[in-house]
Amino acid sequence: MKILADVDTGIDDACALLQLCGCPDVELVGVTTTSGNTTAQQAALNTLAVLDMAGFPGVEVAVGTPRPLRRPLATTPETHGPGGIGYAALADLTSRLGRRPWLELWREALTSHPGEVTLLVTGPLTNLAVALEEIPDLPDLVSGIVIMGGCFWHLGNTTPTAEWNTWCDPDAAKRVFAHFEGLEESQLPVLCATEMTERIEYTPVLLDTLLARCGAAPAGLHPDRPRVDAPQAVTGKPVLDLLSDALRFYFEFHHDHDQGYVAHLHDLFAAQVATGRARVQTVATVVDVEAASDLLRGTMVRDDRGIWGRRPTARVVVDNHPAEVFEEFARALATLTGV
Ligand code: BDR
Ligand code: CA
Repeated sequence: MKILADVDTGIDDACALLQLCGCPDVELVGVTTTSGNTTAQQAALNTLAVLDMAGFPGVEVAVGTPRPLRRPLATTPETHGPGGIGYAALADLTSRLGRRPWLELWREALTSHPGEVTLLVTGPLTNLAVALEEIPDLPDLVSGIVIMGGCFWHLGNTTPTAEWNTWCDPDAAKRVFAHFEGLEESQLPVLCATEMTERIEYTPVLLDTLLARCGAAPAGLHPDRPRVDAPQAVTGKPVLDLLSDALRFYFEFHHDHDQGYVAHLHDLFAAQVATGRARVQTVATVVDVEAASDLLRGTMVRDDRGIWGRRPTARVVVDNHPAEVFEEFARALATLTGV
């Protein structure tokens, strides 16, 4: 299957990319970036470095829209590290950045394989909002759209009611969901909100299990270990060192925010949904986003009871199986490391 990924790489975006690279049946037809976790430019450099370490240096990567549609640029180095991938050491691959505009990459990928490409968006919805204007038949050209973003029931990770991707560019998110109202249910984007993705709670034990599966020594990460603000190559395999150094930062971030020494791998889950690897249940419903007020910026609301009298705008994932997600991730990394 063919995947076009739109990312803001980002620690969990990096995990999503590794997952895609570790699926033998997946062809990554291109990757574009948005600003979110870091700038679109830095996200593209991070993406190139991750793909390079995973053994996929030939995938085209293009820098996407540099800032949200109407809001000022916001990034989150405290969540993902100053460069976006925690403590991981990354090669500078600026010279490999694609020269053609990101929208051309999307247009060519979608029109040369109509009905074959699944779009996976793991950052703010800026590029998708622009593309829906510029490529009006986009919903007919893709085989599916999977989005990581949003939260319901007031469990925000950025404000009390808003999730990061949706908070970053609420205007884009609002436009995107409105665009799908009235389309066939099969064409509605599949939405992985934090109610599901925060269940994908990765731990040091899961990391060590994965490393063992890949024939590497355990990282032995623990909250009481003295912190080292630098890469620590422990496994002897670059892609596993990348993962381990990235997750060490993410564990510390979650620990410092009273969530335990764990990491929520939101985007990894979305990548598994996009590639048909995650067993999920979805509900077609009306999803809308608050884009006018400051207090509720990026708050996502869904109307399951038909109170608004509107047609569904998304298929929201309402059930998942975390243990299977961890197993699938380990399988992907084992494939990447040749085990
Ligand atoms: C989302 O925001 C980013 O920090 C993550 O990469 C993920 O896409 C979770 O709220
Ligand atoms: Ca992301």
